Amino acid sequence: MPVPKSNLYPDFNIVRLSHVEFMVTDLAASKAFYVDTLGLQITHEDSENVYLRALEERNHHCIILRKGQKAEANVLGFKVYDEPDLDKAETYFNDKGLPTEWIERPHQGRTLRTRDLHGIPLEFYARMEQLAPIHQHYKLYKGVRPLRIDHFNCFSSNVDDSVAFYNDLGFRVTEYTEDEESKKLWAAWMHRKGGVHDIAFTNGRGPRLHHTAFWVPNPMAIIDLLDLMSTTGYLENIERGPGRHGISNAFFLYIRDPDGHRIEIYCSDYMTVDPDMEPIKWDLKDPQRQTLWGAPAPRSWFEEGTTFADTEICDSQLAAQPIVAP
Ligand SMILES: [Fe+2]
Repeated sequence: MPVPKSNLYPDFNIVRLSHVEFMVTDLAASKAFYVDTLGLQITHEDSENVYLRALEERNHHCIILRKGQKAEANVLGFKVYDEPDLDKAETYFNDKGLPTEWIERPHQGRTLRTRDLHGIPLEFYARMEQLAPIHQHYKLYKGVRPLRIDHFNCFSSNVDDSVAFYNDLGFRVTEYTEDEESKKLWAAWMHRKGGVHDIAFTNGRGPRLHHTAFWVPNPMAIIDLLDLMSTTGYLENIERGPGRHGISNAFFLYIRDPDGHRIEIYCSDYMTVDPDMEPIKWDLKDPQRQTLWGAPAPRSWFEEGTTFADTEICDSQLAAQPIVAP
């Protein structure tokens, strides 16, 4: 299916991705990973939860770690422009026959819960507790020096359908991979905030969360993190990279947290604010689309992901597969 024409005037205005909530089985181990190793900042913690923000962020949280029996993702969070957008969003999802619910979320204003077409749990809010800036508190810059949350990537059992759904919400496709035989989308990158993506979809058993990415100042931050992880007991948590993506042109590293949730460290993609920007097409058989320098991704990268809580998973309808490392 061809990439749909961008919807420049969606029914409500999503600003950007905002946050993810992970269920983690050992809160102390997760804190050691996200705080002591990556360098995210604690903004609230109690016996069950840790709320974190990155160094440029004024909003209270971009990631919530919640103690639980099973490592899952509870929700992907998005910020909308203002309060009336939340009411418009409620009407929009109700009209589509999707479940809506107003929930209490600490440190956030009114919060609307719903699900996407494949069942991914989503929440939307307009206002979050604002904190004092810390981006010039350089004594806090530790680990990989994470500046902000950048994007989600999800496995989708039908990428064409996911793209149509998020396109209608105003997300614009920047790059995509097509299967030359079936002409179906194998993956697509879609944005609201003016970078390459706020959310991407990859063909596979889904819905599942493939990874959550954090933006860092430069590639040296990634090299420094590799030196740190490889000498502090996290060697096995390094999954793929470092390298430069073909798609997005970003410098990247993929790591796994103590529960296996995949985190990407990411920097240096490009600006995409022009509403008439044409998306870039990649062939699934082109190894440079994953890594510009040619190295294929490991099998785990294509197969493993985080399940969403209380969400049914189904197999992909597209059999085409890219080249993987032996
Ligand atoms: Fe990514």
